[in-house]
Amino acid sequence: MCGIVGYIGPRQATSIVLDGLRKLEYRGYDSAGIAALDQGKINICRAEGKLVNLEKILHERALIGTIGIGHTRWATHGRPSEINAHPHNSGGFVVVHNGIIENYLDLKTRLREQGHHFSSDTDTEIIAHLVEEHYKECSDFETSVRKALGDVRGAYAVAMICEQEPDKLIAAKQGSPLVVGQGQGEFFVASDIPAMLSHTREMVFLEDGELVVFTTEAMAITTLDGTPVEKTPKTITWSPVMAEKDGYRHFMLKEIHEQPRAIADTIAGRIREEHAEVFLADLGLEDDFLNDLERIYIVACGTSWHAALVGKFLLEKHARIPVEVDIASEFRYRDPLVTAKTLTLVISQSGETADTLAALRETHGKGGKVLAICNVVESSIARESDGIIYTHAGPEIGVASTKAFTTQLVALYLFTLYLGNLCGKLDLETRRTMLDALVSLPRKVEECLELNAAIEQAAQSLMHASDFLYLGRGNQYPIALEGALKLKEISYIHAEGYPAGEMKHGPIALIDEQLPVVVIAPHNETFEKVAANMEEVQARGGRVLAVTDQAATGLADRAEIVLVVPQTVDDLMPVLTSIPLQLLAYHIAVLKGTDVDQPRNLAKSVTVE
Ligand code: AGP
Repeated sequence: MCGIVGYIGPRQATSIVLDGLRKLEYRGYDSAGIAALDQGKINICRAEGKLVNLEKILHERALIGTIGIGHTRWATHGRPSEINAHPHNSGGFVVVHNGIIENYLDLKTRLREQGHHFSSDTDTEIIAHLVEEHYKECSDFETSVRKALGDVRGAYAVAMICEQEPDKLIAAKQGSPLVVGQGQGEFFVASDIPAMLSHTREMVFLEDGELVVFTTEAMAITTLDGTPVEKTPKTITWSPVMAEKDGYRHFMLKEIHEQPRAIADTIAGRIREEHAEVFLADLGLEDDFLNDLERIYIVACGTSWHAALVGKFLLEKHARIPVEVDIASEFRYRDPLVTAKTLTLVISQSGETADTLAALRETHGKGGKVLAICNVVESSIARESDGIIYTHAGPEIGVASTKAFTTQLVALYLFTLYLGNLCGKLDLETRRTMLDALVSLPRKVEECLELNAAIEQAAQSLMHASDFLYLGRGNQYPIALEGALKLKEISYIHAEGYPAGEMKHGPIALIDEQLPVVVIAPHNETFEKVAANMEEVQARGGRVLAVTDQAATGLADRAEIVLVVPQTVDDLMPVLTSIPLQLLAYHIAVLKGTDVDQPRNLAKSVTVE
């Protein structure tokens, strides 16, 4: 969480840094701040709350300078306030930081004994003080930063400037993401690609333990101990427009509507129609290893974990390999049985989620192999995995994940087809049926989006409820969880997802006239049972909203609202049923007037444990 940006070059830094922070606000919005270096003097401007508050101040009081750093904060140490906003300054050494310094209390005590006074409650401020302290001895900015980073334990991506050497910007990374953008005679550094996309597509991805010193003429990357590192920039194919709202009221709505394109892009180039086979270019795992698997762990957090739950259904059904699904924060602490015949499949939109990354490392520590399904190119998870299946969803800015989720489902479906075929569990005819369904999926997602007006109307009638129940069975149970999570995240309405068959074992006690129950009931083998659940809800006065498909009949009497999605194979139905639930959450949130793209207390990538 938190986003950092830095700029050094011939242009005024503030507007560039501000623009970068705008693209990173999804990472946190408790406070924001910028520091700019002008004629050897650093000026800092900070504000509590969203970036717009900082912008207002900057409008009144321009920050001049061609070297600048900025920060948008998701509070960990110290409440959201101006004094805790970054940048932090000690004696002219100014820092912005994303991560957590674990030993900051010990260091703070030591620094206090040396006469330092602190003006914030953050862990970050100690970095500025440490650099100042080391500078007293060595009078060299770069050396002082190296020494200070040697003192700290924990995770960081930092950018620093100082008045003592006003021609430099230094950045370093350990555990938190940091990308360098190379322009014409100028350099950028940021927590994520979109912050720099409107200036350059040439990016260098820093590894943990690397430090980069920028001057206006050059940049030099080294390890923390000073060993030079050679890196070739990668050209990013995302266009700047992909990170804009494009006329939509919110990023979330834009991203919901991008799903037909995102799914088509995730499928593109991966199907060999002639033999009904799937081709996965970066899979990076030997066929012999995959053929011999005894178990697959799928590990993820939040929405990506819901995709993992769907993945279990797919892989067990078509590849006939036992699959265990774990929440990443649980997996890493439960001493999982990783062997030479297990595969850990991690799923992450951002590729930076701390717990998922730790699960990946836990697997590697035990000698196991990791395959990642990931959206962000060259993210930590993408780089550290043995193999990768990219979801080509493009940048997802809305905090509530939508297009990343459906493309994760598609990536899981592709992997299932690949593995099922490799293990001889899928005959040609089944593969053809599965691939035909996949190819027609983007068009069917478009049809789902046509439900928008009906869903907006449904939202109007349901928005005042204080609780929602979501029910689904089989591969629709994860969609019930996902629908409930979407509603919770952006509308702040309490919602729970349950397997429909469990309703009688407890949740039925909640049902009264006030409780909307969203029932996901495509026409599959459990349809009649789920339809019976609807009757049970109605018999107790509950309000049913049913999401079903064109093959289902007889729901008009069992539900107050019926939303009908097109038909597809049961394995892909979760993609289609999730679309109306995204739209329902979106419209309820808009009607309630919440901040849809940046809901309270949340951040897009959770880079702390
Ligand atoms: C989804 O709407 C959430 N914002 C959140 O649950 C998210 O899916 C989770 O934090 C995992 O993120 P990742 O996919 O980037 O690892």
